[in-house]
Amino acid sequence: MATTWTRRHILSLINFSAAEYETILQTAVGFREVLSRKTKKVPALQGQVVANMFFEPSTRTRSSFELAAKRLSADILNFSPGSSSLSKGETILDTAKTYLAMGADIMVIRHQQAGVPQAIATEMDRLNSGVSILNAGDGLHQHPSQALLDLFTLTTVLDRENPRLGLLNGKKIAIVGDILHSRVARSNIYSLTTAGAEVHLAAPPTLLPKLFLDASNCQYQDKLFVHWELAPALQDADFVMTLRLQKERMTANFIPSLREYHQLFGITRDRLKLCQPAVKILHPGPTNRGVEITSDLMDDPQLSLISQQVANGVAVRMALLYLIGSSK
Ligand code: CP
Repeated sequence: MATTWTRRHILSLINFSAAEYETILQTAVGFREVLSRKTKKVPALQGQVVANMFFEPSTRTRSSFELAAKRLSADILNFSPGSSSLSKGETILDTAKTYLAMGADIMVIRHQQAGVPQAIATEMDRLNSGVSILNAGDGLHQHPSQALLDLFTLTTVLDRENPRLGLLNGKKIAIVGDILHSRVARSNIYSLTTAGAEVHLAAPPTLLPKLFLDASNCQYQDKLFVHWELAPALQDADFVMTLRLQKERMTANFIPSLREYHQLFGITRDRLKLCQPAVKILHPGPTNRGVEITSDLMDDPQLSLISQQVANGVAVRMALLYLIGSSK
């Protein structure tokens, strides 16, 4: 397994190098093999403590990090805000320091506010604690582990045994839906454009960040394309990533109705005819069935990679915990 890893925290995919992506892909292949064994466990992080600190609801990411930590033989602390001392006025930083005092080596943090994992990382560094922070999704900012499992899923579709960035060079990937509120899209834009893919965003203008309403502001003008209609994004696409309409983050009426949104931007079997014949669909979950994607497509194993994304999430998160934990 690859062992050269220097990053203490994983907070964002901004500035991730191609070599770092390749190391994660190769390491995840090794852990996918571990997960196929009868005994799906290795002692790599024995004695280390992973604190799973989810201040915002999660099914996939939380369970996946917990299982990944257990498969690596780490001890895991699970934090739930509702039953914690946050309700008595304790601050998030004091909560983190409490876990530090208990011996946490890695803190996996999800929070509804962008920047909370960074703030905790800064405090942990100031204290010279040696603790690593893994961002498990912060507000509208970043969701690195999701984009990394997406990268693993995409590249393993193209070459199961030897997934690598170069496989995505020149591939067209459409990311469709609520880009404005999507930390998944923000992270994927970095990983996919670094891999050389053409990323085509498609959303109503109300669901696009202002930055993307003027193509001259795009950081990756040669790799990133923005569409206000679905068809040009889907045309000849190799992969389509649909995003959930994040109703809980919407503070205004961004769309006339869910029905109209589905009519204009919903992924249907008919619309996929615009794509390459071998097109595959991804969705980070959770989904609004019948809104951003039809229910039958979601459940079609020939087209949908959704279950593979979830399964790959464990191997990829094992790789992240391992790389961070073993570089201590
Ligand atoms: N994709 C994702 O982050 O899902 P959860 O909110 O269930 O963790």
